Amino acid sequence: MYSYVGDLSKLTHNIIKSYCRSFDLAVDCTLGNGQDCDFLRENFKKVYAFEIQEEAAKKYLEKKHNNVEVIINSHEYIKDYIKEEVDCIMYNLGFLPGGDKNITTIYEASLESIKESLELIRPGGFITVAAYPGHEEGRKEKEGLYSFFKTLPKNKFGVMEHNFFNRNSNSPSLIIIEKNLI
Ligand SMILES: C[S@@+](CC[C@H](N)C(=O)[O-])C[C@H]1O[C@@H](n2cnc3c(N)ncnc32)[C@H](O)[C@@H]1O
Repeated sequence: MYSYVGDLSKLTHNIIKSYCRSFDLAVDCTLGNGQDCDFLRENFKKVYAFEIQEEAAKKYLEKKHNNVEVIINSHEYIKDYIKEEVDCIMYNLGFLPGGDKNITTIYEASLESIKESLELIRPGGFITVAAYPGHEEGRKEKEGLYSFFKTLPKNKFGVMEHNFFNRNSNSPSLIIIEKNLI
């Protein structure tokens, strides 16, 4: 058992809790089973959560959390729903654990959404992207997104990767994007 080198979700949550400067508004771009959303709602005043699978979204809605607005639509339309500056935006890519593996995030939509998120995030805010290259679409998605992240100007966005150094290339990885305060 490892404390740090293990669960990427736990690491993501700890990074957000430690480094976010304000905790007013967060967006979960991939609601799924709602674990990330639960973390966000406990730490931010308001959370928007996107999910394309109606069943997963409805299941989360049953919890009736009054600071979460669930949006049953693709995260590429994020700007149609959110007009204000956001403190933190999370992407946990791939398919729903325990669900239909054919319904997965796809590169083109994720890229479009992340581009919009880069504008929505407030200076000093964070975008986190957990990528899972262990399946075909996930591999394509990670490669495409990583190429895009490399093009981000370093004076505007700090980009850092966490990955497993001594596991195989299919293991998940985490990208943290911080928008410069200046
Ligand atoms: C790895 S799971 C997310 C796990 C989740 N954050 C949790 O804590 O349980 C990815 C989810 O993204 C959803 N998804 C796929 N494409 C999407 C899109 N374009 N917009 C919003 N959600 C999407 C999938 O249906 C799936 O439920």
